[in-house]
Amino acid sequence: MNEPRLLIVGLGLIGGSLAAALKETGFPGEIVACDRNPRELEQALSQGIIDAGDTSMVNLLPRTTLILLAVPVLSMQTVLVELARLLDKGLVDRERLVITDVGSTKASIRAATIEAFGKIPSNLVLGHPIAGSERSGVAAANPRLFDRHKVILTPEKDTAPDALARVRRLWQACGAEVMEMTVERHDQVLARTSHLPHLLAFSLVDTLARQHQRQDIFRYAAGGFRDFTRIAGSDPVMWRDIFLANRDAVLDALDDFQAGLAGLRKAVEQADGDSMLAIFDRASHARRYFDTLLNQSSYQAGYQIMQQTILSFRVSPGGSVSRRIRVPGDKSISHRSIMLGALAEGVTEVSGFLEGEDSLATLQAFRDMGVAIEGPSQGRVTIHGVGLHGLKPPPGPIYLGNSGTGMRLFAGLLSGQAFDSELTGDASLTKRPMNRVAEPLRQMGAQIDTAPEGRPPLKIRGGQALKGIDYEMPVASAQVKSCLLLAGLYAKGETRVREPAPTRDHTERMLSGFGYPVRREGDTAILSGGGTLQAGPIDVPADISSAAFFLVAAAITPGSDLILEHVGINPTRIGVLNILRAMGADLELSGQQEVGGEPVADIRIRYAPLRGIDIPVDQVPLAIDEFPALFIAAANACGTTRLRGAEELRVKESDRIQAMASGLDILGVTNTVREDGIDIEGRAEKDDDGSRVHYGGGRIDSLGDHRIAMAFSIAGLRAGEPILIENCANVATSFPGFVDLANQVGMLIETETREGS
Ligand code: S3P
Repeated sequence: MNEPRLLIVGLGLIGGSLAAALKETGFPGEIVACDRNPRELEQALSQGIIDAGDTSMVNLLPRTTLILLAVPVLSMQTVLVELARLLDKGLVDRERLVITDVGSTKASIRAATIEAFGKIPSNLVLGHPIAGSERSGVAAANPRLFDRHKVILTPEKDTAPDALARVRRLWQACGAEVMEMTVERHDQVLARTSHLPHLLAFSLVDTLARQHQRQDIFRYAAGGFRDFTRIAGSDPVMWRDIFLANRDAVLDALDDFQAGLAGLRKAVEQADGDSMLAIFDRASHARRYFDTLLNQSSYQAGYQIMQQTILSFRVSPGGSVSRRIRVPGDKSISHRSIMLGALAEGVTEVSGFLEGEDSLATLQAFRDMGVAIEGPSQGRVTIHGVGLHGLKPPPGPIYLGNSGTGMRLFAGLLSGQAFDSELTGDASLTKRPMNRVAEPLRQMGAQIDTAPEGRPPLKIRGGQALKGIDYEMPVASAQVKSCLLLAGLYAKGETRVREPAPTRDHTERMLSGFGYPVRREGDTAILSGGGTLQAGPIDVPADISSAAFFLVAAAITPGSDLILEHVGINPTRIGVLNILRAMGADLELSGQQEVGGEPVADIRIRYAPLRGIDIPVDQVPLAIDEFPALFIAAANACGTTRLRGAEELRVKESDRIQAMASGLDILGVTNTVREDGIDIEGRAEKDDDGSRVHYGGGRIDSLGDHRIAMAFSIAGLRAGEPILIENCANVATSFPGFVDLANQVGMLIETETREGS
């Protein structure tokens, strides 16, 4: 940093801490300070954090290249006017000079600047470090105050880039993370995250302090009171100035808060436990979410820019697979348990719930629509159903992350509501086709807008009268079928959905379990609107789609012997078992039983040599999510495996045919991509005794698709070299804990993270 002289105007906690921080990092220039209070200057000189001080700026300005204004917000105007006057006298090289500030509100300081200079000078960069303490004065200066904290700069359109860069460097030297936003946004955000909480703390302490039992109240007030009111010890003058300066934004924030408080007051008054639980639960989860963000980078004021972490798996070659394990709960059933539980009358207790990001997004969406949901805690969730017509409008767009199932099922369900809604998702979901649900829903009378080519976001207009339709699905899709059945709950008359091939029937089973009549006539599922759902317990089986990775792992690895417990073996999901058996896998089912309308079993699998097959087309919808794992089985089989009729794989979380083909190419497994499938040349030989490696390693991009990442993880068992799989964070959407479980059974996977942009 080339700043021969830094002048700090106003030596309080912030100005003093900046001086202290710069001294500690070996700032090469002089640090001088101006303060009205000579005692503050003496204190700073004795602490060795400034080189010179004065009660007026005049003597300090010569040679100054950077001025930092750190006076209270309402004193800023006077200081700026004085500064403008002195600069006109030519006391300083104006070409070189940069001015910045640390005020907690920005619009008022910008106005004061215009007042003083007639415009905002291009060498002036307004800023605000989001750091502080309830202590004040230079004696409280802390050289670490800004370390890993945010500093917000609010440059104008014509701010000089060099001035901005120099202010950035100043803060970065103190360990701060610098970000930019507009003045208006800064003031709105701060009003909510900093000013409002201070106002509440001052008010609560003052209210209690004025009551006549104050001695008692304060004597017995412990944890909660202390935590909530720490900031009421802050500098009163400074805070008065902030509220005077940021009046409008604070009033907006206060109005929102008062509306929330009024809602809670009513709930308490009416002993409305469900409403209280809904609010507390939402808040408690939001707070925990905030904590996890907070822990990534220390950040005091509470608004965050989500830091994307890029996760990779480094898979060492070799290993074998043995043990008795239970993989997490079924994703499809978990989504539906929350949806139907929320729409039912009464309380639904769910066990075995998948605490993955996709099903948690569904859960959060219902919380946002006013449903009280307890948990999840170790797979247990309690849903206080609100009935088919009890949902409330969500406060904003519903974010469904990576989840196509979530978006398509919600589209049906929300088409029948009285309120408008909007469904959004992550980059992968935003590319996925939604016309397959939007078009039939429109035939039912729904009003839905999509982005071009039927992509998300979906905007759904509430209050439409839906009517049942007789719909023949062009693709075999359980998501489309379920979407239409959910809309059918709100439609007049019968909704009939005909499927070209059987698809998973969890929606129908769960509706029946909740006492809602659903019929099947051949290949058509039928229900009539206008009924009710009665809550009941749901035991979510382990997900056969997650089990598939371990089934294939054991199937391809000599010496393996694995038992997977309590796996859902719904006949519409067991394509993977049928295909592996046809390839020669040694599979055994035991302990078959039915839990909550879904069949489950323990599955034992031991190594046996596999052979390539032509996959029967009727098995494709029954194994639709398991092909990434099955392609790895094919790569380890003897002979060619051919898949056809699977064009749906191209519109999953990634184009799974291409993503797998690219990864197989890198490993050195010959394959030929077809429009609707793939041919894979297995690497095993007829007389394979299990000791050979089957292919090499390399660096593979999972394209953010959870199942591609897990498929190549198991490929490592027969690889000759390490496999580095990139972009694996989405494994948490369906299989939290995958790496730990994989390592427990004998695979060799390490995780690596780095920060993304
Ligand atoms: C699902 C249905 C399948 C499947 C998805 C989950 C469901 O999609 O791929 O992971 O829960 O209904 P399609 O029905 O679109 O094939």
